[in-house]
Amino acid sequence: MKFFIDTASLAQIKEAQDLGVLDGVTTNPSLMAKEGISGAEAVLKHYVDICNIVDGPVSAEVISTDFEGIVREGEHLAGLHPNIVVKVPMIREGVKALKYFSNKGIKTNCTLVFSAGQALLAAKAGASFVSPFIGRLDDVSTDGVQLIEQIRTIYDNYGYGTEVLAASIRHPMHIIQCAEVGADVATCPLSAIVALFDHPLTTIGLQKFLADHAKAAGRAVKA
Ligand code: G3P
Repeated sequence: MKFFIDTASLAQIKEAQDLGVLDGVTTNPSLMAKEGISGAEAVLKHYVDICNIVDGPVSAEVISTDFEGIVREGEHLAGLHPNIVVKVPMIREGVKALKYFSNKGIKTNCTLVFSAGQALLAAKAGASFVSPFIGRLDDVSTDGVQLIEQIRTIYDNYGYGTEVLAASIRHPMHIIQCAEVGADVATCPLSAIVALFDHPLTTIGLQKFLADHAKAAGRAVKA
């Protein structure tokens, strides 16, 4: 399973990249705003800065909601860097644009997906990635991971090439569960990725190995 980081923070992207397990980045307008990135020029420059850190897909979201606007914006974003993936909302005009981009060979990520039917439409329109928001479903007492499983089954039934990108991940168990049900990608906050490293038995075990090594080394020096 690929790991993407879901942030617009260059510091966090660098930190995740240094871990050696990062495959790509997703952003959205809220994440850009959180970093204080505003204004067309600043936003475009920020995407290029991200592409210069990570050698993998970088999702850049359109703001337009009409077909012509989505296409205009998406083509501009795609021209910034070969790794840019145009993030398009799951609305009628968005699905039309997904088909347009697919015919032109422009990579896309269909965002704000909350049902299997929406994921089916995105795949039929040729989306490169589909982003079901599992955390936001869990927030309203609906099983987000179950949706990933459902989409996996549907895509496998018909051989759709659209990658299932589990989004809105909140904690490490979401990552594990998504891996179990066959998500192609998990886009995560840095905290969820880092939490995967930790196990108390690893910490205790390493302390013991190092202590034993130091003891043996001390004996060797005395002898
Ligand atoms: O980037 C889309 C998605 O991952 C948002 O997550 O935490 O705002 O529900 P969240």
